[in-house]
Amino acid sequence: MRTIIEPFRIKMTEPIDQIDRSKREEALARAHNNVFLLEAEECCIDLLTDSGTGAMSTSQWAALMMGDESYAGSKSWKRFRDTVRNITGIEHIFPTHQGRAAENILALTLVRPGNVIPNNSHFDTTRANMEFAGALALDLLTDDGLDTTNEGPFKGNMDLEKLKKCIEEHGREQIPFCMLTITNNTGGGQPISMQNIRGTKELLQQYQIPLIIDACRFAENAYFIREREAGYEDKSLLEIAQEMFSYADGATMSCKKDGLANIGGFLICNNDDWAEHFRSALIMREGFPTYGGLAGRDLEVIAVGLMEALEHSYQVYRHATVTYIGDRLETLGIPYVKPVGGHAAFLDAKVFLPNISPQNYPGIGLVNALYLEGGVRAVELGSVMFGKRNEDGSESPAALELVRLAFPRRVYTQSHFDYLLEVIESVWKNRENIKGYQITHQPKFLRHFTCHLKEL
Ligand code: F0G
Repeated sequence: MRTIIEPFRIKMTEPIDQIDRSKREEALARAHNNVFLLEAEECCIDLLTDSGTGAMSTSQWAALMMGDESYAGSKSWKRFRDTVRNITGIEHIFPTHQGRAAENILALTLVRPGNVIPNNSHFDTTRANMEFAGALALDLLTDDGLDTTNEGPFKGNMDLEKLKKCIEEHGREQIPFCMLTITNNTGGGQPISMQNIRGTKELLQQYQIPLIIDACRFAENAYFIREREAGYEDKSLLEIAQEMFSYADGATMSCKKDGLANIGGFLICNNDDWAEHFRSALIMREGFPTYGGLAGRDLEVIAVGLMEALEHSYQVYRHATVTYIGDRLETLGIPYVKPVGGHAAFLDAKVFLPNISPQNYPGIGLVNALYLEGGVRAVELGSVMFGKRNEDGSESPAALELVRLAFPRRVYTQSHFDYLLEVIESVWKNRENIKGYQITHQPKFLRHFTCHLKEL
């Protein structure tokens, strides 16, 4: 087979600054050893996130100029609404400035103290929003999803046994809705099968519990279903997405991922009563329901981006990138989450750095080593992000200690990725010298963004 090429060429470039190691050491010290606190220009290859960091297409830039900035009922709103409705089939559509604003409105209007929210895996902001509203946020991923060496095709699946037990234990009335995060970002960007989405819906229906999809990477999930699930090989990604959403009563979305936009999101539902509550909360927080925290031009860009994310050639290229990294890591014998996910490759820091205990955050050790070695910015998805702080001041570590190399969409070329692999290999060879960390300062919620750390 011929080499898979980027299905685009580059017409505008953005320079990358390269600073030397001593400057990187200074920068990391100034950032209190937390890469979130670095200046972006101090990073050579920035893989902190795939969120809002993508490159727009010519069609998106052209659409941007068509932005209708009317306060109410703009043409751009109608294009946005019609596109979201075409993909999801869902009735009530509310734009938000990004995904967490949708989560916030959902939690604020539907979640009460003492409620329980099951999910295959909550993303950090989803968890924070549910917990802030007083709910218990439960991750009910299948055990396969926690095994980083298992090559299963759908390791993002909800464990239906665990879900049933959770409903029986807590009672239907404590569960205002159940969520499915598609793909499962925190567990390695792993997909959820159509069978599992359908199965989750059928189980919830028995208890009349609504299903909300966290749809950030819905198009990548649709591609995995097409590639890996029998019966979908001849369907378009749009048809697959339409079926995925047909099982949902609502969805939250960050258009900064599979909307191929730099900002934006939405909250959608079929329930008229929910829509009434969402609308009031939206007007108070985000804006009038036809723009909801976005400019008309953003709505245009998203309307185009959502459809581009469903283009088969785009997803083939996107997946080829992650697979390329996965194959090289395999050859080098470097531990990573198998198989590679949709938007990122995840290094397994627990296996990479077995001498650093979870209490001393091996993921941070690895993230900081990658930065010092080559100016690569990755992110820890381990005990700093997901560790549980107990009442007595102790900490329960997260289930996994991962380091995510998230790939911005349509931004880096193959030589950038070859450079990345060289950096990872150097860090791997010098792994004995990597040390653990201790937190010296932290806020109560979402500490990973701003905490300060000290090398041990
Ligand atoms: N849900 C998932 C699964 C996410 O990955 C994110 C964001 C959100 C919700 C919130 O969306 O950022 O638009 O408010 N994830 C980014 C990341 C930040 O780096 O994985 P947002």
